[in-house]
Amino acid sequence: MIRIAIDGPGGAGKSSVAKALAKKLGIIYVDTGALYRNIGLYALDLGINTKNENEVSSILGNISLELKFENGKQTILLNGKDRGDEIRTPEASMAASNVSAFPKVREFLLKTQRDTAEKNSVIMDGRDIGTVILPNAEVKIFLTASPEARAKRRYLELTAKGADVTYEKVFSEMVERDRNDSTRAIAPCVPANDATIVDNSDMTEEETVIAILEVINKK
Ligand code: DC
Repeated sequence: MIRIAIDGPGGAGKSSVAKALAKKLGIIYVDTGALYRNIGLYALDLGINTKNENEVSSILGNISLELKFENGKQTILLNGKDRGDEIRTPEASMAASNVSAFPKVREFLLKTQRDTAEKNSVIMDGRDIGTVILPNAEVKIFLTASPEARAKRRYLELTAKGADVTYEKVFSEMVERDRNDSTRAIAPCVPANDATIVDNSDMTEEETVIAILEVINKK
């Protein structure tokens, strides 16, 4: 069994890199951000204020999240329904970041994440995998890049999907989400003491995969 934690800010390419590594290593890729995104989306469905801790905490009892893996692909059923790309809109991203600051939300998702890593060899990406969820992970990577490089990637990703966004808007939302995620009181997005930091501002996805494979092979 091996547990690989990949943490870092949005737009660093964690998910594409982790997917490629999972395929190479024949293990499961777990996208933990999708769990927070589903809670954010559900809060938006209900029209509640995602910055209000009491309102958000009060809906958790009505949420069932089921994590499934088929042919290496993760699906999440939110109250029985796969919401697909609805969780990837800029509104859902901000909602996810807002709700993820609340202890009750993080507690709600803790067991699902730990159970998955107990039953399977995993590469799990998120913000607090190496620090909180899997402190004993065999490999810990903190993948980061400059805000400009990350916003450019996110912008290209969104426009490729036909989203009507500007680079400036993507950049300012990214900076706001970074601030939210890295300064919150609980489980902030910071490298674990024993994490290897990889800055891929000037690296392609393939080069990033190779750099991380080197770290894994040394362990
Ligand atoms: O990785 P992502 O962009 O899909 O994550 C969406 C939000 O969820 C992110 O802004 C912060 C939060 N998140 C978190 O707090 N902890 C994680 N392990 C993963 C995501």
